[in-house]
Amino acid sequence: MRIGLVGTGGVGRALVDLIGKRDDIELVFALNSRSGVGDQAGLDPEKLYDYLGRTRDLEGYGEGGFGAWRISDILNEYRVDLLVEATPTNKSTGEPARSTIRLALENGLHVVTANKGPVMLHYRDLKDLAEKRGLGFGIGATAGAALPTISAGENDLLGSRLLGIRGVLNGTTNYILHLMENGGMTYQAALQKAQEEGIAEADPTQDVEGWDSAIKMTIIANALAGKALKLEDAEVLGITHLTSEDIRSAKDRNKRYKLLGELDLEAENPRVVVKPVMVSHEDIFYGVQGKNKGIQYVTDNLGEFAILGGASDVRGAAAAIIRDILQIKKRIFRKV
Ligand code: HSE
Repeated sequence: MRIGLVGTGGVGRALVDLIGKRDDIELVFALNSRSGVGDQAGLDPEKLYDYLGRTRDLEGYGEGGFGAWRISDILNEYRVDLLVEATPTNKSTGEPARSTIRLALENGLHVVTANKGPVMLHYRDLKDLAEKRGLGFGIGATAGAALPTISAGENDLLGSRLLGIRGVLNGTTNYILHLMENGGMTYQAALQKAQEEGIAEADPTQDVEGWDSAIKMTIIANALAGKALKLEDAEVLGITHLTSEDIRSAKDRNKRYKLLGELDLEAENPRVVVKPVMVSHEDIFYGVQGKNKGIQYVTDNLGEFAILGGASDVRGAAAAIIRDILQIKKRIFRKV
């Protein structure tokens, strides 16, 4: 499968690394906001991975490197089957990723994205366009990444109705709470460690104020339950007000805080609620520690089930993109 990549940040670079370890995916071009590199015969992923470790200026890459580009020109010039969109999230408009994704679909390319903005705001529109053209639109990396919330939901909920969702969907806050509880760290020190380890968003308020969790809950509900929930309707409280004393006193009672997202899909006006909740041993999420996450689906016929783990990191996010690419590849193969 021939793919093009837009976005060479942490996740994009990790994806290049994983592609280099496989022989079924060929990387034809890679682009970032200022520059790009392409080779009709396929780029050398190992060389590109090393290069991106030194600089993101692809114009100086050597053969195939170029400066400012337009996606329409790129899609005319290079022949690919699938576009991976992994640029940073813009949660107000979803642009420019939304336009890039639309153009790729209109040009007959499958799309896999790690970008939460366009998926949260325009999922139905983009999915409809993909379906109309018989194309795949993979979004697993936007809603838990290594934790297969979308993949499991799309495949394993078939035939049952989703009644509710509970989730610990943000690795950064779960890690901070873990470090405060077990390492005795202050909130500030724990946040700094999460940032140093590269799991926090570029703007960590997205994590610690609960927005990243709320976005993921919204995406999951819209994708799996056909809802059109909006982030502005969510009730969101993060972990910034929690003190070391709060954490200690929960621990003294054999409980711990989790930043929990909840959604009752049977409610008259379903809305995402994200807030820190003190959970005890009996709660499925009590044991979800460190950078791990978890999702629990409540259904009519399958009862309740949960998936736990799927720690947040760039390698896991890149692996989620690979998973989506391979699922699309499998579907194409089945059609033949
Ligand atoms: N910052 C996110 C997290 C990773 O901590 O889970 C990307 O979704």
